Amino acid sequence: MKIVLVAGARPNFMKVAPLYRAAAAEPGLTPVLVHTGQHYDDRMSGQFFRDLGLPEPDHYLAAGGGSHAVQTAEIMKRFEPVVEQEGPAAVVVVGDVNSTIACALVAKKMHIAVVHVEAGLRSFDRSMPEEINRLATDAITDLFLVTEESGLANLRREGVPEERIRLVGNLMIDSLHWNLERGREAGLKAPAGPYGLVTLHRPANVDSTEALSPLMEALGRISTELPLRFPVHPRTRDRLKTIALPEGSRIEYLEPAGPVEFAVHLASASVALTDSGGIQEETTALGVPCLTLRDNTERPVTVELGTNTLAGTRPESILAAWESHKRNPKAGRVPPLWDGQAAGRAVAAIVENLQ
Ligand code: UD1
Repeated sequence: MKIVLVAGARPNFMKVAPLYRAAAAEPGLTPVLVHTGQHYDDRMSGQFFRDLGLPEPDHYLAAGGGSHAVQTAEIMKRFEPVVEQEGPAAVVVVGDVNSTIACALVAKKMHIAVVHVEAGLRSFDRSMPEEINRLATDAITDLFLVTEESGLANLRREGVPEERIRLVGNLMIDSLHWNLERGREAGLKAPAGPYGLVTLHRPANVDSTEALSPLMEALGRISTELPLRFPVHPRTRDRLKTIALPEGSRIEYLEPAGPVEFAVHLASASVALTDSGGIQEETTALGVPCLTLRDNTERPVTVELGTNTLAGTRPESILAAWESHKRNPKAGRVPPLWDGQAAGRAVAAIVENLQ
């Protein structure tokens, strides 16, 4: 039985890698790996495939760049013949990126079962492209694989029948363990001395100077107390060049890091400052405090049980969160089933559902 696994953007690769390994090890199951090409730079894509031990994709769709409509449409056009050719029993999509909804939509209209990994997460903020992708994907998903309790509650409230939902845990954390292990094997060391790790790429934060400037102002001030390392997403790169930092700032701009290097650096950071969903989860699993530069999160367990604090996007709220972090760094617990074994449970749920 063939299942198509779809990967498009950086955080997808982290979730697909453990799933691919577990599916390949399952007798009677053949995973077919499709890379949509949504992310295409070597540092955003190729490096991830190599570090995560993923093979070359069976199909590469080269549908990166462009507006949301163009990107989504290109992925759909190029994915349809792949599904036709492969005739899979299911198409598995992960996360909330444009590749997720594009491929789910194609599969469902071809009467192929859609499995959504990381289903049910909701920020309740429909100005986020990811929230639209989550809602639209879950509206046509057949099997919902869920990372945390809030996902279960959201899907139940939306009327999804219980037998189609499985809490399997967090595949991102499977990859985090794998990456730390590879880092140890390679003798990779974290940078010396205390530092904070920054990432920013949400459109609402980085697509205008008016939004990005106040964030950089706050980060610049924080960096006078703790040096900050900032691997920069391509989306953020050009705008960052136009923004002056406050006097005495110690922010080091870096190229995007591969997953092994990033995991090693994150594990030793004093704090993470980010707008990424995945990093909210990874810091919770690592016990590293995280200040999230957003007003909401679709991953509430990271705040309720984990080390995450919503710091907002205004300099005053970010600096207040920073002061409070210095007084009392948040300690947390690892959420249930974030144990590095989620892929086995995900594949078992898929096999059970397809029979
Ligand atoms: C996408 C996802 C986001 C995810 C993020 C992880 C959507 C709607 N958004 O956002 O949820 O958290 O990936 O990184 O799917 N670019 C490059 N090289 C690359 C990739 C992108 O230069 O390898 C450029 C693109 O040309 C574009 C910009 O970066 O100008 C944004 O890329 P895009 O894939 O549209 O969205 P992301 O911001 O990466």
